[in-house]
Amino acid sequence: MADMCEGRVVVVTGAGRGIGREYALMLAGEGAKVVVNDVGGSRDGTGHDGGPAHDVVAEIAEFGGQAVANGDDISSWDGAGSVVKQAIDTYGGLDAIINNAGILRDRMLVNMTEEEWDAVIKVHLKGTFGVSRFAAAYWRERSKSGETNDARIINTTSPSGIYGNAGQTNYGAAKAGIASFSIIAAMELERYGVMVNAIAPTALTRLTEDLGLGGADEKTKAAMDPRWIAPLATWLASSQSAGVTGRVFEASGAYLAVAESWHRGPTAPAIDDPTKVDEVVRKLLADARPNSDMFGNDKKS
Ligand SMILES: NC(=O)c1ccc[n+]([C@@H]2O[C@H](COP(=O)([O-])OP(=O)(O)OC[C@H]3O[C@@H](n4cnc5c(N)ncnc54)[C@H](O)[C@@H]3O)[C@@H](O)[C@H]2O)c1
Repeated sequence: MADMCEGRVVVVTGAGRGIGREYALMLAGEGAKVVVNDVGGSRDGTGHDGGPAHDVVAEIAEFGGQAVANGDDISSWDGAGSVVKQAIDTYGGLDAIINNAGILRDRMLVNMTEEEWDAVIKVHLKGTFGVSRFAAAYWRERSKSGETNDARIINTTSPSGIYGNAGQTNYGAAKAGIASFSIIAAMELERYGVMVNAIAPTALTRLTEDLGLGGADEKTKAAMDPRWIAPLATWLASSQSAGVTGRVFEASGAYLAVAESWHRGPTAPAIDDPTKVDEVVRKLLADARPNSDMFGNDKKS
């Protein structure tokens, strides 16, 4: 056991499996008191099983760490409030939340159903909003009553959200929304001592198992281990990350990076005549960098 997060109370949503499980284990190993939230659903968000959250709590207890299980559905308003309340009731406070829970319902736009759209937006975007909202209200109340916060919100976006990936208009829109949400929440909450950042991870978990990496060599698989994301999340949850807010990071076993946000590119004076737009916009596009590829790199022409 080390002490980088000694005594800090951290909620990790979706911490029963995959990346969130690694966050919970590393945070507890660094001395944090962790609320291990997981509804224990299937990859597409259906079903419920308390097992995964309890298993992670048991693993943490084995090495002498502190954690409690929470089985709430964070995509519901009540569930979001309840997980924040459990942290405060159990450990007497809250220092960080990591909004990590996620599901997938991939489909090409032309075939996507209303339910596939709503389910993904609800878990990712509304779930991130709900837990953040209840935690932020708690930190604002503390701040108003003269207490000091050293608090963190760490959200989970995706390369699909910030760079794009076909078949994921629902998921990519939710994840792009979470990146923007993080930047805006950072602006609002800094006055209360709350730093807000987001991580776009890449790892081999059940969400990505159909990428065809099952047959990859051991070196590739090791680079895709979800544990690679945990050091950044642990640092962001710790006091060491003070002053870092409103940023989107990328992490995997291959790299650690800062994703730079939208910037205004080539610009022309305003045009009042639609017949003049074609020439001007084509010149602007010729001067502009193309959108990146799905890995965040300049597209090869
Ligand atoms: N694996 C990757 O390469 C990758 C890439 C980009 C983004 N992400 C994001 O990272 C996060 C973690 O994904 P993972 O790959 O570890 O997936 P995972 O399926 O292994 O873990 C996600 C966990 O979230 C839980 N969960 C789902 N809905 C929930 C809800 N409503 N309430 C509480 N818990 C819920 C699930 O039960 C599951 O245990 C997700 O937000 C995902 O979108 C993952």
